Amino acid sequence: MDPNNQSKLRLSRVSHQYPGASGEPLVVLKDISLDIANGEFVTIVGGSGSGKTTLLRIVDRLIPPSSGQVLIDGKVVERPGGQISFVFQQDCLMPWRRVLGNATYGLDLRGVAKSDAQERARKYLDLVGLSGFERYYPHQLSGGMRQRVNLARALAVEPDILLMDEPFAALDAQTRELMQIELLRIWKQTGKTILFVTHQLDEAVFLADRVVALSARPGSIREVLDIDIPRPRDIEIKRTTHFQDYVSRLWHLIEADVRRSFRAETAAEA
Ligand SMILES: Nc1ncnc2c1ncn2[C@@H]1O[C@H](COP(=O)(O)OP(=O)(O)OP(=O)(O)O)[C@@H](O)[C@H]1O
Ligand SMILES: [Mg+2]
Repeated sequence: MDPNNQSKLRLSRVSHQYPGASGEPLVVLKDISLDIANGEFVTIVGGSGSGKTTLLRIVDRLIPPSSGQVLIDGKVVERPGGQISFVFQQDCLMPWRRVLGNATYGLDLRGVAKSDAQERARKYLDLVGLSGFERYYPHQLSGGMRQRVNLARALAVEPDILLMDEPFAALDAQTRELMQIELLRIWKQTGKTILFVTHQLDEAVFLADRVVALSARPGSIREVLDIDIPRPRDIEIKRTTHFQDYVSRLWHLIEADVRRSFRAETAAEA
């Protein structure tokens, strides 16, 4: 990145520890420093428990880091408010609200007048391909459609930064691929800065300008991989050796950590 260009989002030596079950601190993130440019798409991979969700929650100010700083446009922001939206793995839709009511939810919380909120929600429902479904209830939608509503709700508050925590993990393989294409289209149209967590390495490579590989707990940055694949990207590129080389490089980077955290989790369950 050009050093004269101010980062949209800067993580500066972010570390975090939780109070462990028996009182001793559990260190989950260690010394994470990362600069993300305006409009950049960065994905994060790492084994289960490496602190990916914790990192996104820190960026969203849901929890303060134990040490280090998060800067947006060069400033420490106490409450990011409308600058950041979070898209969770579960769609979190309210079953009693229609699609339109779910899409306006973030705007309702911010006190936006009903007609303005609805107008904006309709614009983003249209962007995610759900025009005509405004009056449906969540139970009348497929999983992919519900995640689109979720995305429309996050976009409706017009944030600069989208944080996405395994948003497609609950979808079947084909829907997931379609949603990846859709997300790239929406990203291109809106110019958002995206920080996206996934366990699926081919998803991480396909979407990203850069992939951040985290070590096992405490999560630290093992490597940041630049993805030099031209855009627009088509699903077909996933079959190329150039693409597969990135996926295997990533797997080699995190394999030992993933196996270690898998063994730790299965031992804890026994
Ligand atoms: N509120 C909390 N209190 C105490 N420990 C927590 C809390 N939240 C998470 N942890 C612990 O912190 C570690 C990191 O959790 P986190 O959810 O950030 O990992 P993750 O990388 O998102 O994992 P996964 O891939 O399974 O979603 C885990 O060991 C978890 O048990
Ligand atoms: Mg997580």
